[in-house]
Amino acid sequence: MNFPDLKEARKRTKEKVNILYDKYLIPYEVKNIGVGKKYSVLTYGCQMNVHDSENISGIMEELGYSREENYENSDIVIINTCAIRENAHNKVIGILGRIKHLKEINNNLIVIFCGCMAQEESITNMIYEKYPWVDIVIGTHNIYEIPLSLKKVLESEKQSISVYSIEGDIIENLPIKRDSKYKAWVNIQYGCDKFCSYCIVPYTRGKQRSRMPEDIIEEVKGLKEKGYREVTLLGQNVTAYGKDLEKGYTMANLLENISKTGIDRIRFVTSHPWDFSDDMIEVIARYDNIMPYIHLPIQSGSDDILKKMNRRYTVEEYKELFYKLKKKIPGVSITTDIIVGFPNETSSDFEKTLAVYDELKFDLAYTFIYSPREGTPASFIKDEISIEEKEERLYKLNQKVNEYAKIANQKYLHKIVPVLIEGFSDKNGKVMGYTDTMKLVNIEADESYIGKIVPVFITDVKTWSMEGVVKVD
Ligand code: 5AD
Ligand code: SF4
Repeated sequence: MNFPDLKEARKRTKEKVNILYDKYLIPYEVKNIGVGKKYSVLTYGCQMNVHDSENISGIMEELGYSREENYENSDIVIINTCAIRENAHNKVIGILGRIKHLKEINNNLIVIFCGCMAQEESITNMIYEKYPWVDIVIGTHNIYEIPLSLKKVLESEKQSISVYSIEGDIIENLPIKRDSKYKAWVNIQYGCDKFCSYCIVPYTRGKQRSRMPEDIIEEVKGLKEKGYREVTLLGQNVTAYGKDLEKGYTMANLLENISKTGIDRIRFVTSHPWDFSDDMIEVIARYDNIMPYIHLPIQSGSDDILKKMNRRYTVEEYKELFYKLKKKIPGVSITTDIIVGFPNETSSDFEKTLAVYDELKFDLAYTFIYSPREGTPASFIKDEISIEEKEERLYKLNQKVNEYAKIANQKYLHKIVPVLIEGFSDKNGKVMGYTDTMKLVNIEADESYIGKIVPVFITDVKTWSMEGVVKVD
């Protein structure tokens, strides 16, 4: 048994991160235990979790399990959790209730609880005390140990808890079953050292660890050979890529070298304004296969709040970077994240956020009400602002977000834009895909276009999406 520890999670050691190429293995006792059985993965949260779930699926398939979309029909359910806000928590607690019921009917059902919530001391203690029927709790640093945990559980029939708060190594040999044949997530970095005062990620994902450039480039080359069109480079803080490597190798170097693999499209998330270098801007502008789309969280338009958030930039500095990006990268689309209702955010602070939004007119923003996270510095501040007030602020901000999203889309009306067609839209039987600037387009076209990047004539624009037809000569 190994439980998470908040004090340990806060620490940053100078210890070397080991890059391990043979750490993941399947003990022979559990080889093929999944043959003839089915697994489901329930994924909550960000792209990092979506990508971790692809690795978990890879492990499950190597154990012989086959994929089942409906978890009620599965022999093993993996819940990959998110801790970023209270509502992500609540969803997981709800699903645990439903799975408990399934377990009562089928005692052979195996339940694995993993992801960021598993890294929280109070949550894993709660699972231990109140949910003894959860078979395995495993942390974000050691999903490679799932086969080993299964072996333990099958041998002893006791709950196995295996969560480490000290940052892990980098495990390079995990199997993967990707969700798409055309677009791939590629991890370039794990963890975060920024410690924004509201954020739980530095505690649940550990210290910043960059993958070796050679390993990333090999992965992208392999994807290209398999026919992938697009890669999204993933990290909590990709602009800081390489700062923990000895070589003085930067995100600008990485982008340039990935561009040279010749893969059609390169994206990256998420960028922190603090580390966004001029070199990076120049590389994005120079290479056509690096997409003109940047997600650049601002979080607030008030310097006071930014300071309390420990964001390390002022509104003026953010604006300077924003305008530089707009100037140097023609047609760039910039989206952002904003938190309203940070403890004691005044109405004047909030007005400043609205004013910045009016000035910068983002293509889109993901907006959130501040949610206190256990152990983070902001969670200790006594907050005088009511939830009703916060909800009203969120509503006002969202009005603006929608207004400018539609205006941003209008620029595309009756233009021809390149779209990577991914598949059928859930809603209307049309095919769908994204422009280079990350706009969703629903297209009147047949399935032979799926997996291709084609010119699309935009016939109509809405707030969240656009309509178009394929334009072939
Ligand atoms: N409360 C609300 N929103 C948060 N985010 C991160 N932590 C919190 C929190 N405690 C938001 C930030 C971040 C995005 C991924 O989630 O805006 O950029
Ligand atoms: Fe959280 Fe800030 Fe790190 Fe982003 S940069 S993951 S908001 S601590």
